[in-house]
Amino acid sequence: MGFNPLEHRGIPLDRQVRNWRELDVEPVDPDHGDPYTKCRIIAMNGIEIEAILFSHQFARHCPDLDVKRQLAEVRYIEQQQQKAVNWLLPGLASVLETTISYEQVAVDLTGWIARHEPDPYLKQAYEFGVLEDFDHLTRTPTFTR
Ligand SMILES: [Fe+2]
Repeated sequence: MGFNPLEHRGIPLDRQVRNWRELDVEPVDPDHGDPYTKCRIIAMNGIEIEAILFSHQFARHCPDLDVKRQLAEVRYIEQQQQKAVNWLLPGLASVLETTISYEQVAVDLTGWIARHEPDPYLKQAYEFGVLEDFDHLTRTPTFTR
């Protein structure tokens, strides 16, 4: 069994606030690391972004001011976490390299979802998504010339 977050107690919010030094993470070295590391960082950054967007949306529709205040506190930590994750990407990558990495993530993630989707209609929709992202991945270099 992989990592189960429900089996861990977590870290209190007030112990998760980062200072500038802790936010200034060392980016991965694209020449000496696993090439797939960039894809993992991009996927994790997407999860962090989505959590923040969900929290904003939740807060907008929540009438309870105390819950809204707690959501804002969590969001403050989450936005720091998102920055720390995203800044692991090497700053010297070109827009083209970053785009190819994003499409690689899209192909792998959508392919994984398609393989594990039990509903045949949704499976087909995800397989179509894989094809489309694979098309983006393979065409990306041609339309930049
Ligand atoms: Fe795409």
